[in-house]
Amino acid sequence: MTERAAIFDEIVTSRHSLRAFLPQQVDAKTLATIFNVAQRAPSNCNSQPWVVHVVSGAKLETLRREMPERFAAGNFSMDFPYDGVYQGVYKERQYGAAQALYDAAGIAREDKAKRNAQFMRNFTFFDAPHVAFLFLPEPFGLREAADLGMYAQTLMLALTAHGLGSCPQTALGFQADFVREQLGIDASNKLVFGISFGYPNPDDPVNACLTDRAALPDAVNFHS
Ligand SMILES: Cc1cc2nc3c(=O)[nH]c(=O)nc-3n(C[C@H](O)[C@H](O)[C@H](O)COP(=O)(O)O)c2cc1C
Repeated sequence: MTERAAIFDEIVTSRHSLRAFLPQQVDAKTLATIFNVAQRAPSNCNSQPWVVHVVSGAKLETLRREMPERFAAGNFSMDFPYDGVYQGVYKERQYGAAQALYDAAGIAREDKAKRNAQFMRNFTFFDAPHVAFLFLPEPFGLREAADLGMYAQTLMLALTAHGLGSCPQTALGFQADFVREQLGIDASNKLVFGISFGYPNPDDPVNACLTDRAALPDAVNFHS
């Protein structure tokens, strides 16, 4: 393997979802470097249909204070229905990922209160100093949502390469109207998910959560 390929492998395999961050902000120059390189993500017809809002500082503190309360009070608004019911092997993988998280966080599966508390940490951005909200402009749909996925992974790998961590969060799309209202975003921009990011907290055991992956023959078919 070339040195270049080895570096790439290391960045891809060392990225994993982090759910505890230090308060220290990432400096503006590093942020610009990272978000510039993420712009290189590919997209259908180079349409680049991602509309990204990065929130830090006082604005983020307002969201961090209000979002848990609003969610607990049942204030829900999603631009894309949460109808992904996993079955079969997909259910097993979902179960495995949740178990890995609970194991790392020291939460017993039957401890519903602690599981709920862990889930609620989504709305405080796992203490991260930054969050990127990823919006899809109307009238885009599935094809362009795939472009958003390309963008998100490019961004998360760039963050990893700079020693930063991230967690993509569907949960951050549960209060789309509130996020739009707080950031002054037009309703034609639909919130798909958010990515909390910053410097990983090395002392929080939750960050040791590692998930596995299906074996290659279960995912990739080679034909010739
Ligand atoms: C689009 C997307 C949405 C996700 N939403 C959440 C979320 O709301 N909360 C959370 O804790 N993790 C969330 N995750 C993280 C996944 O659980 C995680 O990526 C998966 O278990 C694989 O683990 P890894 O990222 O550590 O490799 C999300 C991941 C993706 C790609």
